Amino acid sequence: MKIKTVEPSWAPNVPAQLRAALAAWFGLNGRDLPWRRTRDPYAIMVSEFMLQQTQVITVIDFFQRWLERFPTFQALAAAHEAQVLHAWQGLGYYSRARNLHRAAQLVVSDHGGQLPDDLAAIARLPGVGPYTAGAISSFAFDRATPAVDANIARVLARLLDFNAPIDSTLGNARIWQAAQELLPKSHGCEHTSALMELGALVCLPRRPKCGSCPVRELCLAKTPEQLPVKKARRQTVRLAEDCAWIVEDERLLLQQQTGARWRGLWKLPELHGAGVGSPLVELNYAFTHHRVTLKVFAQAVPEKLRPDQRWFTRVALEEDAAFASAHLRAVRALLST
Ligand code: ADE
Repeated sequence: MKIKTVEPSWAPNVPAQLRAALAAWFGLNGRDLPWRRTRDPYAIMVSEFMLQQTQVITVIDFFQRWLERFPTFQALAAAHEAQVLHAWQGLGYYSRARNLHRAAQLVVSDHGGQLPDDLAAIARLPGVGPYTAGAISSFAFDRATPAVDANIARVLARLLDFNAPIDSTLGNARIWQAAQELLPKSHGCEHTSALMELGALVCLPRRPKCGSCPVRELCLAKTPEQLPVKKARRQTVRLAEDCAWIVEDERLLLQQQTGARWRGLWKLPELHGAGVGSPLVELNYAFTHHRVTLKVFAQAVPEKLRPDQRWFTRVALEEDAAFASAHLRAVRALLST
């Protein structure tokens, strides 16, 4: 019986040439990003949590403000969850904030407030998957640990002309193996940063800039824009969310959410049934494979509030309430008109 093995990935000498070319290119072209100016494991961890689902340009501001507000694991661990969610507001995907908060508490309770220089211990923290663990270990401790995010997976799949779906179990294992085999013996920070930066600046998803790629001569991709291959996507589900704009005595009525995804976050009260007439505001947002149209309708004050509803003054809105991102956009749009 033939046993399926994950065969070695690179031709002899290619890893060494790739490493040298990438490091030289990164030295000249790497962006000066705030989390690249520090080796503080706490700051690196914050940046990696933020960057999991948010673009670099958005994260830059949030990262700096976050470090002023919660400068250490201890400061974050001691904060209340509501303060943490409020500070995360605008980044979305709040489970990251809850996990970061919990991770800080574990670093304080189990590791004396210092992130251990130990990949396995980092990987046990909540919200830290294999990529984030590898990234933190290489950026904070300069370890040569593999870290494969979407950018790096794309770069590796193209370099190897890898045609299996990278999100299949075997494809994913193969890409991680390729990353492992490409590692230098030391200076993991520069290596991981260089691969990631090539994916972000040159080896772009739809229109790769192969003409200015520092490793084009080592790249096996014949049609790079068609790589990486991924499994068929789940169909997008469209949803309508109709909400109420209810104001009394300069206070706005909000409703607190339950359920795993949005627990604790505030939003505009739900309308039961479709809104009537023209909405005050309409906007779209997406989560996982859903695309939601949020419409907000002016409504009369209800006779009785539900237990999960509360009035907010303008000051309380700004200072106390952490909002679901789309609802924050809607409220800001309506308050500024
Ligand atoms: N995406 C994830 N981590 C990143 C980092 N450290 N720098 C730039 N982009 C990233």
